[in-house]
Amino acid sequence: MERTKIKELLLAKPGQKVLAKGWVRTKRGNKEIAFIALNDGSTINNIQIVVDKSKIEDGILAKVTTGACIGVTGNLVESVGSGQAVEIQADSIEIYGECDPMRFPLQKKDTSFEYLRSVAHMRMRTNTFGAVLRIRNQMAFAIHEYFHSKGFVYLNTPIITESDCEGAGQMFQVTTLDLENIPRNKKGGIDYAKDFFGKQTSLTVSGQLEGELGATALGEIYTFGPTFRAENSNTPRHLAEFWMIEPEMAFYDIEQNMDLAEDFIKHLVQYALDNCYDDIKFLNDRYDNTLIDRLKSVTGIDFVRLEYTEGIKILEQAVADGTQFEYPVSWGVDLQSEHERYLVEKHFGKPVILTGYPKDIKAFYMKQNEDGKTVRAMDVLFPKIGEIIGGSERESSLQKLENRINELGMSRTNLEWYIDTRRFGSCPHSGFGLGFERLLLFVTGMQNIRDVIPFPRTPKNAEF
Ligand code: 4AD
Ligand code: MG
Repeated sequence: MERTKIKELLLAKPGQKVLAKGWVRTKRGNKEIAFIALNDGSTINNIQIVVDKSKIEDGILAKVTTGACIGVTGNLVESVGSGQAVEIQADSIEIYGECDPMRFPLQKKDTSFEYLRSVAHMRMRTNTFGAVLRIRNQMAFAIHEYFHSKGFVYLNTPIITESDCEGAGQMFQVTTLDLENIPRNKKGGIDYAKDFFGKQTSLTVSGQLEGELGATALGEIYTFGPTFRAENSNTPRHLAEFWMIEPEMAFYDIEQNMDLAEDFIKHLVQYALDNCYDDIKFLNDRYDNTLIDRLKSVTGIDFVRLEYTEGIKILEQAVADGTQFEYPVSWGVDLQSEHERYLVEKHFGKPVILTGYPKDIKAFYMKQNEDGKTVRAMDVLFPKIGEIIGGSERESSLQKLENRINELGMSRTNLEWYIDTRRFGSCPHSGFGLGFERLLLFVTGMQNIRDVIPFPRTPKNAEF
């Protein structure tokens, strides 16, 4: 007999013989009857198995413990109990894998997220992580669908690279050199000519620079891939390995870039509400009963668009009125998430797109404004998260770009290919990066970014 997924069984017509397979969530009952809650990951909901103990061997039933993997054949019948439309009356149970209740890491007694991170190889079997990972999957699909429907080309940019796109020096080096015996050049420096690629390479912090090559050939592209940052930030919003979506569009100015970012993120949140409702409802009811309202609140409104300079004025006024921030505020500083959240949550009560940042706190490639001080950057700031998207219009003038590169003292040896976009048929263009896990923090309402990726990588942690 063929197995039917529990998601389908729960919607199926009663009165048929079925086979369900999955992992036991709970077993309870009395002398005559046992009730098993079975889950196979296809949905947050379990199917109830009703066992007439006279029909199933005691030895088999004893092996049906929390965590065990079983297959059940029986009749799908209308459920008399509340909470489910149908249940299975078991004819036979097959045990695929027993699960020793004394040693199973997922016990009722410790379900803190911190503990579950230490058993991340098993935590996907919990309701919460099942819900989060199904939502993650749906969001990935929605992202591809969104860009596909708009005619963007999905471009795969390299993971190993020689350029530091964001210029923050937070790269993980990739090398096959023998660290016990590093080859030296005549000057005593490391002889990278002997390394695998014949030069110094790292894991990418962003696919943008290669994305720009794509956009200035194909028109509109997006990347969606892993990104690596060796920043020693032990916060609930930073990962050393995260996934980023980076659209890059020829002929878009900063306004069109903001329009796209706003439409994109509203579309994704609406998609989640429409397609992940069971999982979101579970997270809403279990952890944060403002989640659904918060999701709905961003889909129907216009985001605020604000100049950095105006934002600083609001924050300075807040300080004058008695608000205490950990980090000081004045024109020129990079905003901390406490500042971003003040603007979004306290001052405006909705998402804010901040533009016109000082050039000194932003990357070299951003289009410079006439004032000589600011650039056409845009950060999308979200409630509970802070920065969820970072982007800009790009500097398209060869001369201005070269001046900025020189001003910052950047090495040009591994950037000439990038500068070629401005040498040959340069065009106005823009793009942005959405942190996939930041989006998931918002959509799931989870508090820690380590809990929206299956296997988080953070300082001193690369287990599993
Ligand atoms: O603002 P960032 O650094 O921008 C870029 O990398 C640009 N090259 C993007 C572009 O214009 N194509 O990063 C973009 C987004 C941030 O807004 C944030 O959501 C996420 O990536 N992000 C991180 N997410 C998790 N952990 C980290 N350490 C992150 N750093 C950035
Ligand atoms: Mg940023």
